[in-house]
Amino acid sequence: MNRSLNRIMVTGGSGFIGTNFIRYLFAQPDFSGIIVNVDKLTYAGNPANLADIDEKYGKKSGAAGGVIGRDVAGGKISSGDMAGNDARDSSPRYFFEQEDICDQAAMERILRDYEIDTIVNFAAESHVDRSVHGPQEFIRTNINGTFTLLEAVRKLWGTEGKGGTGGYEGKLFHQVSTDEVFGSLGPEGQFSEESPYDPRSPYSASKASADHLVRAAFHTYGMPVTISNCSNNYGPYQFPEKLIPLMLLNMLDEKPLPVYGDGGNIRDWLYVEDHVAAIWLIMNRAGLGSSYNIGGDSEADNLSLVRNLCDRMALRQDKTPEHYRGLITFVKDRPGHDRRYAMDNSRIRADLGWAPQKDFDSGIDETIDWYLSNRKWAEEVRSGEYRNWIEKNYQQR
Ligand code: NAD
Ligand code: TYD
Repeated sequence: MNRSLNRIMVTGGSGFIGTNFIRYLFAQPDFSGIIVNVDKLTYAGNPANLADIDEKYGKKSGAAGGVIGRDVAGGKISSGDMAGNDARDSSPRYFFEQEDICDQAAMERILRDYEIDTIVNFAAESHVDRSVHGPQEFIRTNINGTFTLLEAVRKLWGTEGKGGTGGYEGKLFHQVSTDEVFGSLGPEGQFSEESPYDPRSPYSASKASADHLVRAAFHTYGMPVTISNCSNNYGPYQFPEKLIPLMLLNMLDEKPLPVYGDGGNIRDWLYVEDHVAAIWLIMNRAGLGSSYNIGGDSEADNLSLVRNLCDRMALRQDKTPEHYRGLITFVKDRPGHDRRYAMDNSRIRADLGWAPQKDFDSGIDETIDWYLSNRKWAEEVRSGEYRNWIEKNYQQR
């Protein structure tokens, strides 16, 4: 099945994976549509991630006319010139809307004004430790926000497109979800698409709820949806509260490397570009109502992973591996810490021909080099709010 995805609303596009998705899409020769990035810009959203994309494809690109002879001024579509193909080719293709996915009126406005035909929902509170300290925002954004988006879609695309959008035909809502909805594994086995949902943290419970609401919209209203559940991502632009960037930046600052519990918890790591490629493939080709597991076939326990990072950083910084390994500090475990995640990705391999392109060694080397070359980016995201978080999560452990 091939569908044409042309006018894409990306929620949470200023976060880690959303940023990588938008960058990936503009690099695809067969993508000629527009992207509307809808992001509330929480602590995790950073517009600087896409400054060059905005420069090249946004209004700043100096393009006249706008997409298909239209332009967006102050968030509202205004009629632009219809100067023909040349103007079309240079029309803006990237738009940013600072909005909250819990605001239904704003979501409806965006769907209507930009004639959105495709939504991919990355927007979420995404950090498990934060969900332990303050679950409320996770319930609000991850559950109510997803529900609000579905309601806006139902109103505008549904009921034969009474919102003037032509109904569900040719439309798509893709939900970006996580392996964590399936709970925690013992030493053996992997999660398949048929594994029962068994979330254990406020974060994973909120993501599980969102998946259920998306499936309910498919069964109840015939809404055109797809879902993907992915394992732990790493790569450029990841906020340094997550394990890999936190450890890399702490090494550069000669700070302790806090390993939770015994360091034996296992995650299945995937390079972010392989994740966004899988999402794009699913969006283009997967059957409506289907879900796919995405994983890197690359399991590691946290302590081994952190030691590996130490050794790779030492090579680059002209230090001994022991120098960085000596910073490893065992700290109090995360409450309800899932022991192991592992994804069986055979369905997406068989149905859609996807496979990870980057092995862990090359992906992690590229990631380390990216953080070394982007110290300014890291400094900027480590705002006052970030420092408060570090204080709360680590000093008080
Ligand atoms: P992130 O925390 O880096 O980014 C989240 C983005 O959502 C931010 O830009 C933030 O400003 C925005 N946002 C938050 N609340 C919002 C709201 N109410 N309205 C609009 N925007 C809002 O997260 P990420 O790591 O990029 O994850 C993206 C998605 O992928 C999430 O849904 C997450 O559950 C899922 N996921 C992540 C991983 C991973 O390893 N990071 C793995 C599997 C699935
Ligand atoms: P994280 O990056 O928060 O992702 P998730 O909890 O969604 O898997 O954590 C990855 C693993 O690393 C997880 O088992 C918790 C552990 N961890 C630490 O040991 N120390 C840390 O400082 C952090 C942030 C995570």
